[in-house]
Amino acid sequence: MKISQLAQRAGTETAFEVLVKAKALERQGKNIAHLEIGEPDFNTPENIKQAGIKAIQENFTHYSPSQGILELREAVAEHISSTRNIPVSPDEVVITPGGKDIIFFTALALLNPGDEAIYPNPGYPIYESAIKIAGAIPVPMALLEENDFAFDKEQFKNLVTPKTRLIVVNSPGNPTGGILSPDDLQFIADIAIENDIMILSDEIYSRIIYDGKFLSIASIPGMKERTIVLDGFSKTYAMTGWRLGYGVMNKDVAQTITKLVTNSDSCVATFVQMAGVEALRGPQDEAERMKKIYEERRSIIIDGLNEIPGVSVKMPKGAFYALANIKSFGKTSKELGDYLLYEGGVATLPGTSFGKYGEGYIRFSYATSKEIIKEGLKRTKEALAKL
Ligand SMILES: Cc1ncc(COP(=O)(O)O)c(C=O)c1O
Repeated sequence: MKISQLAQRAGTETAFEVLVKAKALERQGKNIAHLEIGEPDFNTPENIKQAGIKAIQENFTHYSPSQGILELREAVAEHISSTRNIPVSPDEVVITPGGKDIIFFTALALLNPGDEAIYPNPGYPIYESAIKIAGAIPVPMALLEENDFAFDKEQFKNLVTPKTRLIVVNSPGNPTGGILSPDDLQFIADIAIENDIMILSDEIYSRIIYDGKFLSIASIPGMKERTIVLDGFSKTYAMTGWRLGYGVMNKDVAQTITKLVTNSDSCVATFVQMAGVEALRGPQDEAERMKKIYEERRSIIIDGLNEIPGVSVKMPKGAFYALANIKSFGKTSKELGDYLLYEGGVATLPGTSFGKYGEGYIRFSYATSKEIIKEGLKRTKEALAKL
């Protein structure tokens, strides 16, 4: 059997592969401290769960329009209007099974073979994969530690060519925890406007930001029409398994992406969408509480990693990842990640899971309990001391 060229171009998310390896070790009786997966360890807040249960009981169990139920699109439009300070109508919202689909559908909707798309590297691996699936050329924008994993204006300017159709930004970023400053965003916006380029702004961590205020590139004058904002429920409300996310974009792109939803998912489970309405319109204290706990965990993991000889890590400004520099050990990220897993009993992700500029780094997720973080740090320290 021959698989298609399109499928051969698809990449993957190695977080799931490490999870499989770690689970195999657990089946052999080994104890593993899981610091690999970017998944909140909290349960979904009770009011949201109850809204989902009630929706099933009220028979929200049929198809909905592919674009999403109006009530949820209205709730999203209100939320994005107030947090990004731009007028958004429900026609400009598309509901998808997870924010991830917005990456895939944006690439399919906007890119032709031979087009170029700039994306952050190290960055969420699905950007590169989706660009390749669309047959376009992925152009990595290196996020360097010496720039606080922010943005190098000169480098960026040189990457833009007449073939550039899309720029992906992700702030706060996975795996770096870096955020783009207002100045960086303005710089990108100016180039996008001047060269007629669309932006995919992945704002999935916009509510998990510790220092400073979140700013969306869509809020910059002239940018709303050319930005696709990706956001969702997985991280903010600990709803990863519900599969619920959305994109906000101009009406033409919204119609195109809706057509792609019709072709693939038909719609998101209707009761899940009803739970999403409660998430956005109900009390927000649980989301705030989770953020405060991430912030406490951030201090523990950053201090702990920086105490390990040979390891250094910058303070992440948002999301729940620490990208630690491990260059002093003279091993590749993958070798060191495997060593930590098999010898130390700590599951992490090699920086190269996020692209070639992740070489020399290991990502530790702190979306897990303080006890597991402390145990993971202890094991990491002990294992690295033996090298
Ligand atoms: C940067 C980024 N974007 C998008 C997603 C997708 O999230 P979901 O599809 O669960 O909404 C993730 C998940 O890890 C992520 O880290």
